[in-house]
Amino acid sequence: MSRTVYVNGDYLPEEDAKISIFDRGFLMADAVYEVTSVLDGKLIDFDGHAVRLKRSLDELEMAEPCSKDELLAIHRKLVEENGIVEGLIYLQVTRGSDGDRDFVFPSEDTPPSIVLFTQNKPGLADNPAAKKGAKIISIEDIRWGRRDIKTVQLLYPSMGKMMAKKAGADDAWLVEDGYVTEGTSNNAYFVKDGVIVTRPLSNDILHGITRKAVLRMAAEAQLKIEERLFTVEEAQGADEAFTTSASAFVMPVVEIDGVSLGDGTPGPIATRLREIYLDESLKAAI
Ligand code: PDD
Repeated sequence: MSRTVYVNGDYLPEEDAKISIFDRGFLMADAVYEVTSVLDGKLIDFDGHAVRLKRSLDELEMAEPCSKDELLAIHRKLVEENGIVEGLIYLQVTRGSDGDRDFVFPSEDTPPSIVLFTQNKPGLADNPAAKKGAKIISIEDIRWGRRDIKTVQLLYPSMGKMMAKKAGADDAWLVEDGYVTEGTSNNAYFVKDGVIVTRPLSNDILHGITRKAVLRMAAEAQLKIEERLFTVEEAQGADEAFTTSASAFVMPVVEIDGVSLGDGTPGPIATRLREIYLDESLKAAI
């Protein structure tokens, strides 16, 4: 069945949605995005995603396509129109187009393009993959230097997922100057002697909305957190590890570059944090 999607002010069947071939999102990856999860028909951490979207737009001097209230209304209408109970909403804003290709940005009055669509994912919260845990490989991080901006330049993360798949793993962690930055589409953590370790925020990683919520909930649960650089070897020697993202919440990691962590099953802290995150987020969902 065709989805209803949103394109520049219109709600349309997906096959009627159109964007110019000159759009800078298409030609230059001159675009930013957000992925918000839906549980029980409600939006998880909409506010966090709206704030990060504004930050990404500001960093790239890109115009806001609409107000936060309008954005919320669009999200809600798409959830309703498409009958989403569990799933994701993808949002993309591009610098638009002035009808030609040019490296120079178009004039400031060029309206941005905005596109939103839903992805129906029944069973997202009760994902069997989270009970199994993910196998990770490490690869070199060769992305650009502003990973704090959520741009649509996802070719290398895509390639990373393919490298993982070819190696019989589920995902890849990226390593720069000997230290793990983050996962291809998630933030990375390990746990040793009850302490949760994750890389501090900087331009080197995306400031995950799930990361922020999970670290707050972990602190509330009296768990110790250390934000510092760490190596693959250190994570391989950990008791457990996990990743966080809006699409997979807290995902236990059971293997890194062929080395099993703990007893090779999802660790107790990752499992507990996943439960707390799902529970608390659902309560706060709008
Ligand atoms: N990815 N790091 C990277 C590189 C990401 O692409 C993502 C999210 C995260 C986690 O951020 P958040 O908790 O705000 O989802 C970290 C989304 C889910 C995606 O590209 O589909």
